[in-house]
Amino acid sequence: MADARWRPALPTDLTPIAGWIETPAALERWAGPGLSWPTDGNTLWREIDGPNPNSISFCLESESRPAAFGQLVIKGERHYHLARIIVSPAQRRRGLGEVLCRRLLAEARQRRAERITLNVFADNQPAIDLYRRLGFVNQGAIDTRGIQPMQLRQFAINGDSADL
Ligand SMILES: CC(C)(COP(=O)(O)OP(=O)(O)OC[C@H]1O[C@@H](n2cnc3c(N)ncnc32)[C@H](O)[C@@H]1OP(=O)(O)O)[C@@H](O)C(=O)NCCC(=O)NCCS
Repeated sequence: MADARWRPALPTDLTPIAGWIETPAALERWAGPGLSWPTDGNTLWREIDGPNPNSISFCLESESRPAAFGQLVIKGERHYHLARIIVSPAQRRRGLGEVLCRRLLAEARQRRAERITLNVFADNQPAIDLYRRLGFVNQGAIDTRGIQPMQLRQFAINGDSADL
């Protein structure tokens, strides 16, 4: 996916992305609980905090269409959270998820992050494989909804990272 272009996400990106989600369960797995179903681009953008400055949305674009989407959520002083990671179903298992996450980590580093976390359903094996490959490790127990918190090991060492 060398040709994929990295850019801030636009509200209009959420229209095709809404079409990637086929069930309410898939929506919750991707974006968390409490979102409207059925959904559409405008609703999704609003409900996943697209307009919120503490939740910065990015997109990988291929052939003028979004191919992957993810967010950096500001959790505290130098603490960022990776959220709403998704790759177009037609383009999975080609390394795009890894490119997306590495770009998000580079964005976090530019913002002087020292701690990176994420939440993933413990049975979401494709996502967990990806996060482990990037150096994420479990951080605490799986909660009652089945969510495993993870944290990037050694993200910032003297402002540099051993994991990128
Ligand atoms: C998780 C997700 C982003 C991964 O995107 P991707 O572009 O397929 O990821 P990559 O190709 O970079 O790496 C995927 C790796 O995960 C594993 N994997 C991917 N799809 C898999 C599958 N269907 N079954 C088992 N393992 C799988 C493999 O290790 C794979 O590497 P490999 O192809 O070399 O074997 C994508 O599956 C997705 O969008 N899922 C729906 C939304 C979601 O669940 N997001 C995570 C929220 S926490």
